[in-house]
Amino acid sequence: MPVPAPYGTGLEPMGSYHVTTFGCQMNEHDSERMKGMLESLGYEEAAGRADADLILFNTCSIRESADNRFIAHLGEAKRLKSEDPERIVGVGGCWAQSVKDEVFERFPFVDVAFGPGQIHRLAEFLTQDSLTAQGYFEFEDFSGHLPAKREREFQGWVQISVGCNCRCAYCIVPQTRGREVSRDPHELIAEIERLAADGVTEVTLLGQNVNSYGRDLPKESRITFAELLGQVDAVDGIGRIRYTSPHPKDIREDVILAHAELPALCPHIHLPLQSGSSRMLKAMRRTYNRQRYLDRVAQIREHVPDCALTTDIIVGFPGETEEDFAATLEVVDEVGYDGAFTFIFSPRRGTEAATMADPVSHPVKRERMERLVELVQRRAKERAQRFVGRSVEVLVEGPSRTDPARLRGRSSHNKTVNFEGTAQPGEFVDVEITSATSTTLAGHEKLLSRVP
Ligand code: 5AD
Ligand code: SF4
Repeated sequence: MPVPAPYGTGLEPMGSYHVTTFGCQMNEHDSERMKGMLESLGYEEAAGRADADLILFNTCSIRESADNRFIAHLGEAKRLKSEDPERIVGVGGCWAQSVKDEVFERFPFVDVAFGPGQIHRLAEFLTQDSLTAQGYFEFEDFSGHLPAKREREFQGWVQISVGCNCRCAYCIVPQTRGREVSRDPHELIAEIERLAADGVTEVTLLGQNVNSYGRDLPKESRITFAELLGQVDAVDGIGRIRYTSPHPKDIREDVILAHAELPALCPHIHLPLQSGSSRMLKAMRRTYNRQRYLDRVAQIREHVPDCALTTDIIVGFPGETEEDFAATLEVVDEVGYDGAFTFIFSPRRGTEAATMADPVSHPVKRERMERLVELVQRRAKERAQRFVGRSVEVLVEGPSRTDPARLRGRSSHNKTVNFEGTAQPGEFVDVEITSATSTTLAGHEKLLSRVP
């Protein structure tokens, strides 16, 4: 479905929009494409929700807390709409998809709702003659080739696949984003070349399971994820490649070797563990066990000894015993992650785990969470000390959040670095690291910089 051509004159804006984004990087990127599309239709970004003719939410439904956060914001949109009924309220993304037409029953002031693959339908809605409430929820392939309005001109996201064929018992994503569809590699490389020509030096490749990239492509265009990484590395001007997320069941040695061999590929792998107990992993339908996961980690450490490893962990999956939880702590201790996202299990409608008996009380889950976080932070802090005294390359993002007189950026290992220096956003600089916490590094700029 092509995006309608811009029909504003360029002099008179069509109106103003405001987008609030919840959830993962995939959603951040979808919002950038939403903004790019709206600007091509002649809309301008408003400073705040109250100034916008078009109020949009790009929602997440991964955990209950994400739903609740969004519903609180929606209350404000309701008030603004009652003050000015001409305003349009739109709800897109995974939450919208998970409740579909119920959106209009529960929130009658919503004008348009659309699933994550349906951003381009927003344009269709906005350019039709009568704006009666509409929902767009069918799955399609990649959601049109929309221009993205990037948050930072030197960083770009590239969606290499949509959807997910896994059936993890806790996860709502296969319902909200559909079956996996990989994008054609020629199209992807052309997109990355365009981004590089437009000033992007760091790309992040996005997919629910990047390691299964390409398996569904026709034979003549099929390449593996490792081959795709090689082709992205060869694009002139791309100094850094990141990707998220791999799956421990599918990550292969060729991808690990790519980390050792490709200069632009960052030494960081986010490898979701979920649980260190093989019994829980089986109940979660993760299709790997503790040993297989640890073997993958050993392979990473063998080929890329300094590689940063981060992970996701769920605490309190239905039936998790103290012994299962202890197995998770053991793996966390043994691997020594550079960082971890930790979540208390949240039952999601329509998932297998939502119907499982869950005898573990919430206070027990909270207490396990506290123990886990304490260990994650201790190990991450210990691991981070390896950078002290070293010079690391940082891509400068802007002023430090805590002290505007200093700068902030990211190292190739994906650590936030706060430092003294004079570099500009978008520049690569070498920073001498003088101290490290579990989440950030601190230091000062060396005088040499490099062009990617
Ligand atoms: N409850 C808690 N955490 C979840 N995640 C996914 N679904 C759930 C759920 N129902 C976590 C997983 C996943 C990350 C993106 O969110 O750890 O890797
Ligand atoms: Fe992203 Fe998953 Fe949340 Fe959807 S449900 S926005 S895919 S984190």
